[in-house]
Amino acid sequence: MQRLYRKRIVLGVGGGIAAYKSAELVRRLRDHGAEVRVVMTQGGREFITPLTLQALSGHPVHLDLLDPAAEAAMGHIELARWADLVLIAPATADLMARLAQGVANDLLTTVVLATNTPVALAPAMNQAMWADPATQANRELLLKRGIRLFGPGSGSQACGDVGMGRMLEADELAQAAADCFATGLLTGKHLLITAGPTQENIDPVRYITNHSSGKMGFALAEAAAEAGARVTLVTGPVFLPTPDRVQRIDVVSARDMLAACEAAMPCDILVAAAAVADYRPEVVAPHKLKKDPTTGDGLLLQMVRNPDILATLASRTDRPFCVGFAAETENLLEYATRKLRDKNLDLIVANDVANPSIGFNSEDNAVSVIDRQQHETRFGQASKGHIARALVAFIADRYKES
Ligand code: C5P
Repeated sequence: MQRLYRKRIVLGVGGGIAAYKSAELVRRLRDHGAEVRVVMTQGGREFITPLTLQALSGHPVHLDLLDPAAEAAMGHIELARWADLVLIAPATADLMARLAQGVANDLLTTVVLATNTPVALAPAMNQAMWADPATQANRELLLKRGIRLFGPGSGSQACGDVGMGRMLEADELAQAAADCFATGLLTGKHLLITAGPTQENIDPVRYITNHSSGKMGFALAEAAAEAGARVTLVTGPVFLPTPDRVQRIDVVSARDMLAACEAAMPCDILVAAAAVADYRPEVVAPHKLKKDPTTGDGLLLQMVRNPDILATLASRTDRPFCVGFAAETENLLEYATRKLRDKNLDLIVANDVANPSIGFNSEDNAVSVIDRQQHETRFGQASKGHIARALVAFIADRYKES
């Protein structure tokens, strides 16, 4: 179940007897490579101890909304942004009612209200409580708002009744959580994605590069593969694992990157997330440059322009749907719009790299996407994985309209 690999799951544990299965669920999710942070309600703590879930998840359990120490460590907004999926298991009738009404009177319900990541519930309750019209009305409301429901199953219950209301087993819940990450939006499409920095050699030991970590491009490749696309990822030198089902091609310089992209054509959609060096030294010295006493304290390096990979591919007769990135430190929207026009793109993703909490090398990002009609769509601060999935869904939509 590679889809759970490196996914960040906030597991909410409500106050029901099925909470004993949550311990097994944490193990299953982690076995499949997910990172799990547990949030427990007051009721949840009556059925299973935070210590058990701390030991299994490898992280302190989050308990209180109004505890300053806990909020300083990883507060409700950070948890809400961190998550790729909020899974509540068990979800009691009371939790379902509070969530349906948008009540935020404890940490778990507040995280749900604060997150814009998918939320899934695994209901667990007595069969009469499940069948009650109030619970059924809450169920309808939650489904209408896009909250997913895993189960409940039917069978014998802890209270002795038989009927609907049993929480699904840990394996079934882990499978359902994995399925949340498969969308099929790009099935049958070939996506070419560039990522990372390029390195431009000065001599055999020195080079010019930039701060790009490649995280955004890799997250996009992972999200595109989850959406069913065939993905070719052409990347400069980075220290990142290759996402599952992605064909990775490692390159060093801008010219290598262009050659690798041309060899990977044709594609349906090109997403150029690489931070390509605009210039390279005109001559690469064959030997290590020595300090030259005749030139004083200076060194003059003659630089020449690199090819623009995105503009080159966007001008081909078999031109794909083209998505560029504009990493700027000032006049973000103005520069991004100009780039969209100059490079003949369909969409441009603008991000402010002057802000240290987003952009280059950080875990989070926040971007705006601008189209040819200069309409701007904002994606607020969230993990790069979360932004990548939202971007892939948006790109798939626009591609289909094109
Ligand atoms: O012009 P600028 O470098 O700001 O443009 C950024 C966009 O163009 C990004 O999508 C980047 O990947 C792409 N680009 C490229 N080849 C270059 C320079 C930029 O593909 N030589």
